[in-house]
Amino acid sequence: MLAGKSLIAPSDFTVEQLEDLFRLTDDIVKNPEKYARSCVGKILATMFFEPSTRTRLSFEAAMERLGGKVLGFSDPASSSVSKGESIADTIRMMSCYADIAVIRHPYEGAAHVAALHSFIPVINAGDGGHQHPTQTLTDLYTIRAKKGGFDGLTVGLCGDLKYGRTVHSLVNAMIRYENVHFVFISPEELKVPDYVIREIEGSQNCSYSVCVDLDEAIRGGLDILYMTRIQRERFASMEEYERLKGCYILDADKMSRAGEKLIVLHPMPIVNEITGAVDEDPRACYFVQAQYGMYVRMALILTLLGGEHGYPTVSGARMFEKTCVNPRPTGKIPCPNPRCVTHLDPTLPIRTKNGGANCEYCDARIIE
Ligand code: CP
Repeated sequence: MLAGKSLIAPSDFTVEQLEDLFRLTDDIVKNPEKYARSCVGKILATMFFEPSTRTRLSFEAAMERLGGKVLGFSDPASSSVSKGESIADTIRMMSCYADIAVIRHPYEGAAHVAALHSFIPVINAGDGGHQHPTQTLTDLYTIRAKKGGFDGLTVGLCGDLKYGRTVHSLVNAMIRYENVHFVFISPEELKVPDYVIREIEGSQNCSYSVCVDLDEAIRGGLDILYMTRIQRERFASMEEYERLKGCYILDADKMSRAGEKLIVLHPMPIVNEITGAVDEDPRACYFVQAQYGMYVRMALILTLLGGEHGYPTVSGARMFEKTCVNPRPTGKIPCPNPRCVTHLDPTLPIRTKNGGANCEYCDARIIE
């Protein structure tokens, strides 16, 4: 049962739960009017500490189309965060006003912190360069529609694989399927983080290879080419961004050497990594991918709100109890990742994932 749960990374849902969600999405796409009053009386809170077009507006459209209402902010300067309020206190307050919350934040692990302190389901709409699970729902739904399933696919992932949260989440989801092979196409400076590689190595039968040359990867035979933007906002050095920004450009010439069955995906926004001519190619699926986003998010909201039955709400007394369960600890956090939320809020407790070696918030290796 997913009612009342949060979504921080795609692996929070089992493969079976994902399939249930996609079946619900199929029905919403076919019969939207059936769901037009499903969320009457419910409120979605949107907390966007970073810019967004697709994610925020598709969530808002999704809740409106379900008959619910939306409140929130898209500019942190207009919230009390600008006065120094913590993520924990902000979500505690949002929990009093809304039934479900969506958060995007530049620090890695911020959504997890919100979920730890929330009394309502929290959906991670992107935490820095870490994870973006609802983009993955959109990606998977598109792949399912275009390829009929996930087993045995060869997936090329190209561009900023270091800070590319959509890439990390897509791998996190797809390693649960059979014989998926990932081809990581990036310069050395933007290679995929070690924790993502370890996830593949820990999977049953998925594999990966690395490649610097996009043309070579295309000629090697791909089922999916997942292009990503080189993200200026993630670079500490503008000099490095300027050097890398045009490193991959997918154009009609490269597409002429790709297989007929290839599909091209992109989480968008596209800056210059795909030329306009490719938009006309029937193998370019990124606009329909973005369109599916709203329907998948409608299914997600319904699922986490528990459909007709709803999820058990938390009383004021329980709220106080939960506040005590997560006391404000003190101490220095040794996460080596400067983009980890523990560097934004040094009062957060040291946590390792499942008692292992990686930071519970951002997945960086803490213990060697
Ligand atoms: N794909 C995606 O996250 O787009 P936005 O940044 O516009 O939300």
